Amino acid sequence: MIRLGGGLAFPGELPNIVEEAAAAAAMRSEGLQYGPLYGLDDLRDAVVDYLAHDGVTAGRDNILIVNGAKHGLDLACRVFIEPGDAIIVSGPTYMTALAIMKTHEVEFIVVAQDAQGMKVDELESMLDARRRRGAAPPKLLFDVPDFHNPTGITLSEARRRRIVELAVEYGFRILEDDPYRRVRFEGTPVAPIKTFDTGDYVIGLGTVSKILAPGLRIGWVNASPEIVGRMAAQKCDHGTNPFVQRIVAQLFMNGKVDEHIDRVKQTLRVHRDTMVAAVREHLPGSMVEVPQGGYFLWVRLPDDVDADALVRRAGELNVEVNPGGLSFAGPTPGQFIRLAYSFCNPEEIRTGIARLGEAYRSMRAAQHAA
Ligand SMILES: Cc1ncc(COP(=O)(O)O)c(C=O)c1O
Repeated sequence: MIRLGGGLAFPGELPNIVEEAAAAAAMRSEGLQYGPLYGLDDLRDAVVDYLAHDGVTAGRDNILIVNGAKHGLDLACRVFIEPGDAIIVSGPTYMTALAIMKTHEVEFIVVAQDAQGMKVDELESMLDARRRRGAAPPKLLFDVPDFHNPTGITLSEARRRRIVELAVEYGFRILEDDPYRRVRFEGTPVAPIKTFDTGDYVIGLGTVSKILAPGLRIGWVNASPEIVGRMAAQKCDHGTNPFVQRIVAQLFMNGKVDEHIDRVKQTLRVHRDTMVAAVREHLPGSMVEVPQGGYFLWVRLPDDVDADALVRRAGELNVEVNPGGLSFAGPTPGQFIRLAYSFCNPEEIRTGIARLGEAYRSMRAAQHAA
């Protein structure tokens, strides 16, 4: 099976953590006892430095260490959401975020995207219409501003600013889920939404899943001390694994995270180029925007190809891809698939897309014969 479905790390580029693990084990009382609820100070400080590199000003008290960004999202829902409350999401959006939010029984307000990201004019009209009919304002807006999952789009600076203005005007908080920001192959970074925050409106969610390895299960929340305290109070794990936190803190402190990110970018850039070329060759008639970073290609199929049927057919040919429908909170257009170029090497990517192309051609041929 060639796996082009999930956003997994490239196995050839996982960090070597043997030295750091030995050092963490040697610090027995720190790594092998219960740790502090908010996380190890060294790791919180390392996250502060990491964020400063992107222009985000934070102090240790703004940082809560969690078991991955998804955990941070769940904690934010625990703090801010009652069943029936509304959350704004883009259509499409990160499918696992949808699953997490659904467990909190939310109502989704779905706003479309274009090449600049979430359409803020559409968002504003929806907020205004809700207000006029007396509906409660949404509690949260969730977005992935850099190399969006699944579309790969980066939200423009003007829209980042506007979203903060709307949050202030309508009183919702913004969850800025930004795991792919540093996995940029080219182009100029756009400042994080958090840098435009005029108060306490933006909650940053970060993770080492895409810059080191997802199995470490280390992420963070960046918010005001008051929000961080409320989220920490919902944390039922007696603190995130201190042994692994120590390993990750060491990797940050000795510069290995930055070195690792450089390698990941070089590798995944080649994967992306390989996949784009293969898609153009083997899926003629479909459309793909080339993302400047991240893990995914979002492919729009021609109208005569049903995405779910293509995914099933590809599975029979031992290639796994994601149907785009998983990424929509509302009605599902049947014309999209998501392809991850992160996990497979270039040769596997070429083989996988060629097999997908075989499925695609046979479906189109059957369609035209009918
Ligand atoms: C948008 C988005 N957020 C967060 C994550 C990672 O979450 P975690 O830190 O829980 O591994 C992913 C990984 O697929 C993602 O695509």
